[in-house]
Amino acid sequence: MAPDAGTKKVGLIVGSLREHSFNRIIAAAIPELEESISFEPISIADLPLYNEDLDHGDGPEPVQRYREAIKRVDGIIIVSPEYNSGIPGVLKNALDWASTPSKTAALRKKPVGLVGATPGVKGTIQSQQQIRQTLEAIQAYVLPFQKMYISQVMDKVDVERRVLTDETTRKYLKRYVQQFILWIDQVHTLD
Ligand SMILES: Cc1cc2nc3c(=O)[nH]c(=O)nc-3n(C[C@H](O)[C@H](O)[C@H](O)COP(=O)(O)O)c2cc1C
Repeated sequence: MAPDAGTKKVGLIVGSLREHSFNRIIAAAIPELEESISFEPISIADLPLYNEDLDHGDGPEPVQRYREAIKRVDGIIIVSPEYNSGIPGVLKNALDWASTPSKTAALRKKPVGLVGATPGVKGTIQSQQQIRQTLEAIQAYVLPFQKMYISQVMDKVDVERRVLTDETTRKYLKRYVQQFILWIDQVHTLD
């Protein structure tokens, strides 16, 4: 059953561990742009490197907390940079931990939205393609069609205040998040 708009909760995963990450600034802007639902940051910083030998029972304690956090929310928005034309290793590691055990994996059938920011000009296109490919393997429900690429991000944020200042980006990001909230309702018809 689809959750009510007022009770929906979306988890925010940032694919950068950098303290002054641009992508973290973008993720922090999302809750203030859409106040009809609640948001919860889900950290990937404490996860061990994926190792099948550690992946038995409920898994290591940080993995248990991370998987439970994903299971508690109605959807996930990933806000990630691009490294070497692809997915950052720390994010791939986190997605792998959420892909097992396959039948009850935390990300299986979970609605997921993708946002990415870069100082470069291509807006994390290649990173998002790889993230999408991984999520499809996990059988997550990635929001189709809409894309949210943020290029030349240093001109769109106030780094000192850690705020997304560019009005056009704020407008498109708000629209993307609203589309994602509708997507959460739509995926319930796919089950
Ligand atoms: C190892 C490495 C590889 C990178 N490769 C790319 C890339 O392929 N495409 C891109 O747009 N930016 C690339 N960058 C620049 C990042 O987009 C930039 O460091 C960005 O600020 C990282 O995101 P964050 O600010 O959220 O930590 C790379 C940075 C690093 C450290």
